[in-house]
Amino acid sequence: MSDISELRSHFPALAQAGPDGRPAVWADCPGGSQVPDTVIEAMTGRLRRGVSNTHGAFSVSHEIDQLIAEARRASAALTGADPGEIVFGQNATSLLFSLSRAFARTLGPGDEIVVTRLDHDANIRPWVMAAEDAGATVRWVDIRTDDVTLDLDSFDAALSEKTRLVAVTLASNAVGTMPPAAELVRRAHEAGALVALDGVHLAQHRALDLHGLDADILACSPYKFFGPHLGILAVRRRLLEEWSPYKVRPADDVAPGRWETGTQNHEAFAGLVAAVTYLADVGTSHGGAPAGAITRERVLSAYQAFTAHENDLTRRFLEGAAEIPGLRLHGIADPARVDERTPTFSVTLEGHHPLVLSEELGRRGIYTWEGHYYAIELFDRLGLDQGGGAVRIGFCHYHSAQEVDRVLSELGSLARA
Ligand SMILES: Cc1ncc(COP(=O)(O)O)c(C=O)c1O
Repeated sequence: MSDISELRSHFPALAQAGPDGRPAVWADCPGGSQVPDTVIEAMTGRLRRGVSNTHGAFSVSHEIDQLIAEARRASAALTGADPGEIVFGQNATSLLFSLSRAFARTLGPGDEIVVTRLDHDANIRPWVMAAEDAGATVRWVDIRTDDVTLDLDSFDAALSEKTRLVAVTLASNAVGTMPPAAELVRRAHEAGALVALDGVHLAQHRALDLHGLDADILACSPYKFFGPHLGILAVRRRLLEEWSPYKVRPADDVAPGRWETGTQNHEAFAGLVAAVTYLADVGTSHGGAPAGAITRERVLSAYQAFTAHENDLTRRFLEGAAEIPGLRLHGIADPARVDERTPTFSVTLEGHHPLVLSEELGRRGIYTWEGHYYAIELFDRLGLDQGGGAVRIGFCHYHSAQEVDRVLSELGSLARA
């Protein structure tokens, strides 16, 4: 990134001190990113100017209708979908449950669905429950335990002409692995299956692309990419029209609105537009098209800049972590393989329970997560579930090399204590 300290000055939370008086290192960003001032102002500004329900006969309600249309356009630029393919909801998990409930109505005995052990439970359980409800069969894709990547032979073995849907993550929120998505979609489509991609973790680091990947369903959550707590699904229009949502009768029955149950979080839509504007502006300052309307090209430029910077952070962390005695990294450890992972690292330190380690880091102003972070199949498969899981350290574009060094140095001092 061109000027990290200037960029960070737009994120008020990043300036806060930790309990030891030093600036906090927010290494918990796989759990949610911080937001720039513009997002905070857009949300409070919307509340100040007044809120209303949609489709009313007065001006503020018209503004809300326009805001929702704008949020759909911004989300389309972000996900590589059309605005009419964007569905909003409380969070990705709730949206996936609602969509999978409708999918279950199209399933029956003899049908199969495929889920993976690399995924967050939000892209497993909705589909497994849909299969259970319909009497369909669940096939599991295994991982390779050495580098915690998806086992592609196991993926192929799970597919057959009976497969109706494959649910797979674009990036693991636990270990950062990015499976080869385009190839997986191609193989699943060849078998005649739909593909549901979990882009919740990836969206903080790399561009999403529903159409480019030729996928059918894509989930993400703005609170992971510098916006408010909200969920987004990008779904092929055909599915939004053909499948029947659980909905109340008076509500809109036209896609995509027919999938949005109840009153939505309108102020969060203002924050979402501001978050995508933030991405577009970062894109402009890194060689993208001049500022103006949100365009996909500007958003993609931001992600290119994120990738270059984050890859430097990843190499730095992996090289430093390899020098710390007793520190074990679960995931791709080779600094040459930065293209296969995000800067999200699960580690265990000999002699330190993950909770105790995370608490100690927290006292030193380094915010991390511990446990299984809802990737329960993965932790079970890695045999880490019994020992308290691992500690997750996650960086994103607003982190500096000095912050990575500080985390390494604190880990090193705890290892040698
Ligand atoms: C990879 C991944 N998928 C799904 C989810 C669930 O997203 P949400 O909190 O929007 O329901 C998360 C949340 O951490 C996640 O990291």
